[in-house]
Amino acid sequence: MPRRTLFPVAVVVALMAGTAGIALAAMDEPIQPIAPAKVSNPGLVELGKKLFFDTRLSKSGFISCNSCHNLSMGGSDNLKTSIGHNWQKGPINAPTVLNSSLNVAQFWDGRALTLQDQAGGPIANPGEMAFTHTLAVTTLQSIPGYVAEFKAVFGTDKVSIEEVTKAIAAFEETLVTPNSRFDKWLMGDKGALTNAELEGYELFKDSGCTACHNGAAAGGNTFQKMGVVEPYKSSSPAEGRVAVTKEEADRFNFKVPTLRNVELTYPYFHDGEAATLAQAVDVMGRIQLGKRFTEPENAKIVAFLKTLTGDQPSFPLPILPPSSDKTPQPKPFD
Ligand code: HEC
Ligand code: HEC
Repeated sequence: MPRRTLFPVAVVVALMAGTAGIALAAMDEPIQPIAPAKVSNPGLVELGKKLFFDTRLSKSGFISCNSCHNLSMGGSDNLKTSIGHNWQKGPINAPTVLNSSLNVAQFWDGRALTLQDQAGGPIANPGEMAFTHTLAVTTLQSIPGYVAEFKAVFGTDKVSIEEVTKAIAAFEETLVTPNSRFDKWLMGDKGALTNAELEGYELFKDSGCTACHNGAAAGGNTFQKMGVVEPYKSSSPAEGRVAVTKEEADRFNFKVPTLRNVELTYPYFHDGEAATLAQAVDVMGRIQLGKRFTEPENAKIVAFLKTLTGDQPSFPLPILPPSSDKTPQPKPFD
C-alpha cells in the first residue's frame, strides 16, 4: 500500500501551539485543523473575487468560474462532469475550489503547479469558457471600473492576463473552510463529535484511509493509484498523472481529493460515477484497501466525513462594473 511520510508533526506543533494554542494531543492525529485565511492584500482579493464571478471572461458572456465552482454549493457544480461552452459535455468531474490552496498541484493529474497557473486554463479552454486571453484582456480593458481597479491594485494602466490570474489566485487562497466540527474536536472540544462520528473516524484511521487522505485537507497532497487492490472500471478517458509525467507507472494515478466539505461536493471520483458518499466509501474500502465495510461501519465513516464540513466562504455578492459601449459583445450561440 502506498505510504507517505507523515506531516512533520514537530513543525506543526511549534507553529500552531504558538499561534492558536491548540491542544498538543490533537497533533498526533493524521488530519490537522484548517487555518483561517490570512489576507495580506485585500484590494487584490476583492478584484479576484469580481473576476471569479464575471461571466464576461467567457465567449458566451454566460459562464464564470462560479458556474462550475459554485460557492453556494461547496465550490463545485454537483454534476458528474461539467457543462462548458455551447453545452459541451466535459471530460472530468470538477473538483471543489475550496481549500485548493492546500493542494500539492492543481487538476486531477496535477498539470498546473500553482493556482495562478491554473486560473488561465479555463478562460481559454474551448470546452470551458472558450475565450482567448487576448479577448479577455481587451474586454476588461474596455470596462472603466476594472481599469481603475487594476490601476489601484497593480499601479499599471494596461490590464494583463498575469494580473488577472494573480488576482483570481489571491481570491482562491481565501476560500479555506476552518471551524468544522472535526477541527473543533481536534482542537480539544471533545463534545464536538457524537460517538458514531468518532467511531467512524477510528474506522477511517484503522482501515488505512489516512495513508492517502491526511494533512489539513485530508487529501490533496499526493498522487495515488485509483484501484490499488482491485482495478477501477471507468468509461472515462482520463488516464491520470501519466498524461503529465509520461511514466507508465503513473497511469491511473490521480491527485487524492480533499475530503474537506465532501458532504457538499457530490458526485464523487474523477468520473463522477459515485453518486453518494456511501458508494464512494464502499468503493474506496474495496479497491484501495481490500475491505468490505458492513452497512453500520459504512454509515459511521460517512457520519465522520460529514464532520469535515467547515465554515463556507461568506461575503456580499460582488457587484461588477458595467460594460462600456466599447466592450466586445458576448457570443452565446457560436
Ligand atoms: C466549464 C466548467 C468550469 C469552469 C467555467 C471553470 N472550471 Fe475550474 N475546473 C473544472 C474542471 C472540470 C476541473 C478539473 C479538470 C481536470 O482536473 O482535468 C477544474 C479544476 C479547477 C481547479 C483545480 C482544483 C483541484 O483540486 O485540482 C481550480 C483551482 C479551478 N478549476 C479554478 C477555476 C477558476 C479560477 C475558473 C475561472 C477562471 C474555473 N476554474 C473555471 C471546471 C470548470
Ligand atoms: C491508496 C490511496 C487511498 C486510500 C487508501 C484511500 N483513498 Fe480515497 N481516494 C484516493 C484517490 C486517488 C481518490 C480519487 C480517485 C479517482 O477519482 O479516480 C480518492 C477518492 C475518495 C473519495 C471521493 C472524493 C471526491 O471528492 O471525489 C472519498 C469519499 C474517499 N476517497 C474516501 C476514502 C475512504 C473512506 C478511504 C478508506 C476506506 C479511502 N478513501 C482510502 C486515494 C485513496
